[in-house]
Amino acid sequence: MRQRSSSSLAIPLFLSFFLLISTSTSHSLTSTNSSLIRKTCKKCAESDPNLSYDFCVTSLQAAPNSHCANDLRQLGKISIKLLRRNLTNSRSYIKELLKNKKMDPFVRSCLHDCFDLYSDAILTAKHAIEDYKDKRYDDSNIGVSSIMDAATTCEDGFKEKEGVVSPLTKRNNDIFQLSVISLSIINMIRLNHGSI
Ligand SMILES: *[C@@H]1O[C@H](CO)[C@@H](O)[C@H](O)[C@H]1NC(C)=O
Ligand SMILES: *[C@@H]1O[C@H](CO)[C@@H](O)[C@H](O)[C@H]1NC(C)=O
Ligand SMILES: *[C@@H]1O[C@H](CO)[C@@H](O)[C@H](O)[C@H]1NC(C)=O
Repeated sequence: MRQRSSSSLAIPLFLSFFLLISTSTSHSLTSTNSSLIRKTCKKCAESDPNLSYDFCVTSLQAAPNSHCANDLRQLGKISIKLLRRNLTNSRSYIKELLKNKKMDPFVRSCLHDCFDLYSDAILTAKHAIEDYKDKRYDDSNIGVSSIMDAATTCEDGFKEKEGVVSPLTKRNNDIFQLSVISLSIINMIRLNHGSI
């Protein structure tokens, strides 16, 4: 009897949790400072043709706290944090993939390399955020550039054997693009002292 009542409670609980999440998400989306985000992304996409404007706007708008950003400097911090979160999520995903014992040994060894690259990159992102906060923009720039290289190195590993398809292409590409966004913002701040 007891178990039954708890399971019938589970659905309304789940639903109200879901409602709570979705209202808070839409709230942060509507109050996003979209003018700042659009202006920044336009500049980023102009400075690097490899960056998609739409990807930039969508990513920054969905980032937690981007609605609180009222200047480029704050948006820059948010973008590096977004990069760190993306790396952390992707590393967890690799960990899941590695649980499959029947995986091709070549793919497995690539995934191990990527796991190590991402682990280092997460630490680097943490330092890049500190450097950024303390206005050591050159150091922050070097850190984010190395994260960008890590995504490329990870992806290239899979290309060393013919016929192998990287299971991480989208994730590496996301990390690459998020790095480009952070780098553009860091460089804008370095050069213009934060005005846009
Ligand atoms: C764009 O990407 C290509 C291929 O990855 C690279 O060779 C080129 O340097 C990139 N351009 C810029 C401006 O970063
Ligand atoms: C990484 O960021 C991109 C762009 O914001 C997003 O679409 C993607 O879902 C994120 N991936 C992970 C694993 O967090
Ligand atoms: C949004 O960003 C613009 C440009 O930096 C700024 O002038 C404006 O005050 C910001 N608005 C809000 C609501 O933070």
